[in-house]
Amino acid sequence: MEDKRKFYIETYGCQMNVSDSELVVSILTSAGFQHTPDYNLADIIFINTCSVRETAETRVRGRLTVFKTMKKVKKGIIVAVLGCMAERLKDKLLEEEQVVDMVVGPDAYRQLPQLLAVAENGQKAINVLLSKEETYADISPVKLDENGISSFVSIMRGCDNMCAFCIVPFTRGRERSRAPQTIINEITELSKTGYKEVTLIGQNVDKYNWNDGELNFAQLLEKAALIDSSMRIRFATSYPQDMTDELIYTMAKYPNICKYIHLPIQSGSNAILEKMKRGYSRQWYIDRINAIRKVIPDCAISTDIVAGFCSETDQDHEDTLSLMEEVKFDFAYMFKYSVRPNTYAARNYVDDVSEATKTKRLEEIIKLQNKISLEANRKDLGKTFQILIEGYSKRSTDKLFGRTSQNKVVVFPAEKNKIGAYVDVIITSCTQATLNGYSVIKTLKQT
Ligand code: 5AD
Ligand code: SF4
Repeated sequence: MEDKRKFYIETYGCQMNVSDSELVVSILTSAGFQHTPDYNLADIIFINTCSVRETAETRVRGRLTVFKTMKKVKKGIIVAVLGCMAERLKDKLLEEEQVVDMVVGPDAYRQLPQLLAVAENGQKAINVLLSKEETYADISPVKLDENGISSFVSIMRGCDNMCAFCIVPFTRGRERSRAPQTIINEITELSKTGYKEVTLIGQNVDKYNWNDGELNFAQLLEKAALIDSSMRIRFATSYPQDMTDELIYTMAKYPNICKYIHLPIQSGSNAILEKMKRGYSRQWYIDRINAIRKVIPDCAISTDIVAGFCSETDQDHEDTLSLMEEVKFDFAYMFKYSVRPNTYAARNYVDDVSEATKTKRLEEIIKLQNKISLEANRKDLGKTFQILIEGYSKRSTDKLFGRTSQNKVVVFPAEKNKIGAYVDVIITSCTQATLNGYSVIKTLKQT
């Protein structure tokens, strides 16, 4: 019997890509290929790429040189680029990177077996067609995560927001929602196989809309929460303009919906928000935060911030810092602006903030956020949280780590606790990034 051809897949970028890689594994195993986690054993190497910032693309280019060296020794291997970079660069990628045999965009993964047949024939293969309908709804992803506890479930694809700086609408195409029953089935299966947490993912989950209003995101979230009350439900990413009160009330209603919202602000300056075409003002954003905190006082909130967008002045930057002080995010992802080709900003604005200024502003933003995260964590000292145990601490096998509902990482002595279990942990110390504590053994009080 002929050995199955083995493929390896490496994933960059966001959770959507993680989930897409799982689809790719599913499609290829059904077509008779075999997945290997070791690229030295692979006949085919896939790189699932991200284009959101220039640095993401630079990293992928670096990886390609590694595979180029490998290909010199192992002549027959196929190197395939998937995802956003494939979609953005199309056949240019084949021209620029000799090592690449295949270029496949995010909506063309069903074609992978056919495209591989072309590449195995010695020809270059490409499919970068975007679709208005493809959601891979019927495909059960093959889970690649290591712990078997926590998983992503894709609920929609694409993005219609067209923020001026963002490449995503160009690489992932139009917004489309996945059929609710297939989402529910996938979560039910995960629950049956022992998973304890799912994160519903999409570029902008608040725009989930099945059949023209038949089911919105809050209603989908409720359905998800009702599947298994011992399963935690998370979601990402929300969009300030689209996040409804109904969603907030649904979160409050179900204890297994985690009290954590990732709500990107991008900038604290109204002028910059307008230039970014975000569609909301600073005050609108603050009002959304107040609405969340009124209904869910213990809700953690994280954000994305971009430093040095086109025409950003010192005052605009100060506005971002003051917004951070006002909102007090528990956590933030912080970036320097980088021009993405063909976006509205690339076509219409000048990237006029110097690299040095971008760096300086980003450093100030990070420094402030570190201080705020530490203050937020200090408020948790002495409190007890229910933790879902995800694994052993990287630093010591005597310790386990897990997360609170608020998505904060907690490290504590392992004792008799097991991965996948819930445990109550009292917080005794913290850094800006982690909470430390010990598990509280509940004893029955004698009366
Ligand atoms: N430059 C820097 N950061 C960007 N992001 C998106 N596009 C860019 C860009 N051109 C950031 C935004 C977004 C996150 C996913 O990446 O903050 O929310
Ligand atoms: Fe980009 Fe805006 Fe869509 Fe987020 S919502 S992916 S920032 S276009």
